[in-house]
Amino acid sequence: MGKKIKKIGVMTSGGDAPGMNAAIRSVVRACSYYRVECVGIYRGYQGLIEGDFINLGPRSVSNIISRGGTMLKSARSKEFRTKDGREKAYKELKNAEIDALILIGGDGTFTGGMVFSSEYDIPCIGVPGTIDNDIFGTSFTIGYDTALNTVVEVIDKIRDTASSHNRLFFVEVMGRDAGFIALNAGVGAGAEEILIPEEDMGLDRLLECLKRTKRSGKSSSIVAVAEGDRIGKNVFELANYVEENLPEYEVRVSVLGHMQRGGSPSCFDRVLATRLGVRAVELLLDGKSNLMVGLINNKVETTELEHAVKEHHVINRELLRVSDIMSM
Ligand code: F6P
Repeated sequence: MGKKIKKIGVMTSGGDAPGMNAAIRSVVRACSYYRVECVGIYRGYQGLIEGDFINLGPRSVSNIISRGGTMLKSARSKEFRTKDGREKAYKELKNAEIDALILIGGDGTFTGGMVFSSEYDIPCIGVPGTIDNDIFGTSFTIGYDTALNTVVEVIDKIRDTASSHNRLFFVEVMGRDAGFIALNAGVGAGAEEILIPEEDMGLDRLLECLKRTKRSGKSSSIVAVAEGDRIGKNVFELANYVEENLPEYEVRVSVLGHMQRGGSPSCFDRVLATRLGVRAVELLLDGKSNLMVGLINNKVETTELEHAVKEHHVINRELLRVSDIMSM
C-alpha cells in the first residue's frame, strides 16, 4: 500500500487547450471535497523545477470554468528532460510536501510524468488536454471539441469569400502529427478535400480530385489541410503548385494558427474536463498511479500512461469515405 495522500499538485503542460481551466477547477474542488490539500504548479514542469507553486482552495477557481487558456500557465520545459532538472523538481515537491501529481496535457506531458514517477516515488495521473485529440485511451481530449467549433466557424467565413470570388482556398489547421481537427472540421464545414497525415493523398490524386470538382460545376472550393500532412507541409508551396498546374483555379491560403487554441470552452469540453478531473483525484486517493483518465463510450475509463503515450489514437476512416461522397 502506498503512502496516504494528503496533498496533490496539479499542473498544465504543453500546448494550452480550452477546458484546461475547467479541469483545474474540477481537481481543486474534488480535493476539497475529499479533504486533501491542492497545490497549483505554474508553467508545467518548469514551475515544478523552480518551486513556483500556489495553494488552491475551492474559491481560488471561481468563475474559471468558462475561460480559455490556463490559469496555471503552460510551458514545454527542456530542463525537465535532464536528470538534473528532474532532481530539482523532486526536491521542490518534497519541500512543499506534495505527495502526488495530476498532469493535464498531451503525450509530452505524460512521457515526462512516466519518467519522473519511475525515478522517484511520486504517483502521477494524466488528464488528456490538447486540441489535437491525438491521445490513445480517450475518444476526446479536452479542448478538441472547442477547437473544432472554432475551425468550422472560421471555415464558414472563408467559404463566404471563396464563393464570392470563385476561389479555391487551402485552409491549414493545427495537428502536428494527427488529422483529427482537419478531418472532423473538414467534414463539418463541407470541405471539398481534406489532407491529413494518416492518409497520403499524393499530389496527382489531389489535382485529379480538384479537376473533378471543377467539372462538377463548383465555382469555389475549400481544402482543409492538417499542418502535419506530407504534401501540405508547406501549404504555400502546395497552393503555388496547384495554381501552376490548374490555371483554371485562383488560389488563396489561410493558416488558422493559434486562434484554434483560444476561446471559451464548449459545454462538451467543460463537462469532459469536470468528469476527468474528479476521477483523477479519486484514482490517486485509491492508491493508483501511472494512469490516464479518458472518455470511452461516454464512460470515464483509465489507460496505462505507457499505452496512452505509445499507442496511436486512430482516425475514423469512415469519415474519409463520407467526405469523398460529399465532395461530388
Ligand atoms: O500540440 C498542440 C499543438 O497545437 C499542435 O497542433 C501544434 O503543432 C503545436 O501545438 C504548436 O505549438 P506551439 O504553440 O508551441 O508553437
